[in-house]
Amino acid sequence: MEFFEVIQNRCSMRKYVETAIEEEKVQQILEAINRAPSAGNLQAFEVFVVRKLTLRQALVKAALDQSFLAEAPLTLVFCTNPARAVERYGSRGTSLYCIQDATIACTFAMLAARALGLDSVWVGAFDEQAVTDVLQLPETLRPVAMLPIGYAGKTPNLRPRRVLSDLIHET
Ligand SMILES: Cc1cc2nc3c(=O)[nH]c(=O)nc-3n(C[C@H](O)[C@H](O)[C@H](O)COP(=O)(O)O)c2cc1C
Repeated sequence: MEFFEVIQNRCSMRKYVETAIEEEKVQQILEAINRAPSAGNLQAFEVFVVRKLTLRQALVKAALDQSFLAEAPLTLVFCTNPARAVERYGSRGTSLYCIQDATIACTFAMLAARALGLDSVWVGAFDEQAVTDVLQLPETLRPVAMLPIGYAGKTPNLRPRRVLSDLIHET
C-alpha cells in the first residue's frame, strides 16, 4: 500500500474477526518497530507480544473492559525502559525520551499493520500495575501503550480532524 494511502485510511478499529495474522506479517511489523527512531538510538523501550487468549482476556480487565483486546489475535504492549536512557540523558531521558521512544515505536507498528491490510487501535486507558501483573513485567519497565492488531470486524470509520489552519501555526 502506498504510504499516503496508509496515512489516509488508517483509523481505530474496535472490532476484529478471529482470523489469525500471518506470521510473516507479524515479523514485518516487529521489524518496522525496530526501525523507529529513538533518542541517541538508545531504543529505551521493550515490546511484549501477547497472543495467548487467557492473557488477552486478562488485559481486557486491566483496560477498563475494552473487550476488543481479547478479540484481536495479537496485542503488542509497549513499555518504557528508562534505564537505557538514564546514563546519557539523566532525567530528560527517564521522564521524556523513553516515553517518546516507546510511542514512536507504537506508531510505526500501527502504520506497518495498516500497510499490511491489518487494523489496530491505540489503547492508553489501562491500569499500569494490572498490566504489569498480567504480563509479569519487571518493575523497571512501565507499560505506556497497547496495540491490539487484527483483521477488521466492521467497516472502518474515518473520524474528522481539526482544520489545518487551526492546528498549524506559521511563525
Ligand atoms: C494516547 C492515546 C490513547 C488512546 N487510548 C485509547 C483507549 O484506551 N481506547 C480506545 O478505544 N481508543 C484509544 N485511543 C484511540 C483514539 O480514541 C483515536 O485515535 C482517536 O479517537 C482518533 O480516531 P482514529 O484513530 O480512528 O483516527 C487512544 C489514542 C491515543 C493516541
